[in-house]
Amino acid sequence: MLKSTLALFAFATLAASSAVNMPRDEAAPAIAHKGPTPDIANVILVFTTCNNVNLGNCLTWTSTTLPVGCTNLAANGQANLVQSAATPAGIECTLFTSQTCTGTSQLVNGTINDLSVVGFSKIANSFNCQAN
Ligand SMILES: *[C@@H]1O[C@H](CO)[C@@H](O)[C@H](O)[C@H]1NC(C)=O
Repeated sequence: MLKSTLALFAFATLAASSAVNMPRDEAAPAIAHKGPTPDIANVILVFTTCNNVNLGNCLTWTSTTLPVGCTNLAANGQANLVQSAATPAGIECTLFTSQTCTGTSQLVNGTINDLSVVGFSKIANSFNCQAN
């Protein structure tokens, strides 16, 4: 009886803690672009991720809303490749080592010209963004 009560408590705790994380996880992911950001109403540039240092060889990412949900870099050809990144004014993004916005993370709030300086070069596989 005690064992099953404990198991139920553990399950309820787990369910409650994952519910707390739902809003950000359920926000729409960003859309990837090679080249210039399209000039469409309500589309905002949220993040730039680059395969070279100093913002070289980049993908730009747009969204119509903030926060931006978990966006998979690996699914867009940038698995373990990002060496520099930048956010526009008013937005901060967090890079993660996993493809699902878990694991080790690195905040990008502005421009990081060489992610090796913060020990995060070529290990990012997903990101999310929010207003800063
Ligand atoms: C991000 O940058 C903005 C503008 O420089 C600053 O006001 C804000 O405090 C920064 N946020 C974090 C978490 O560093």
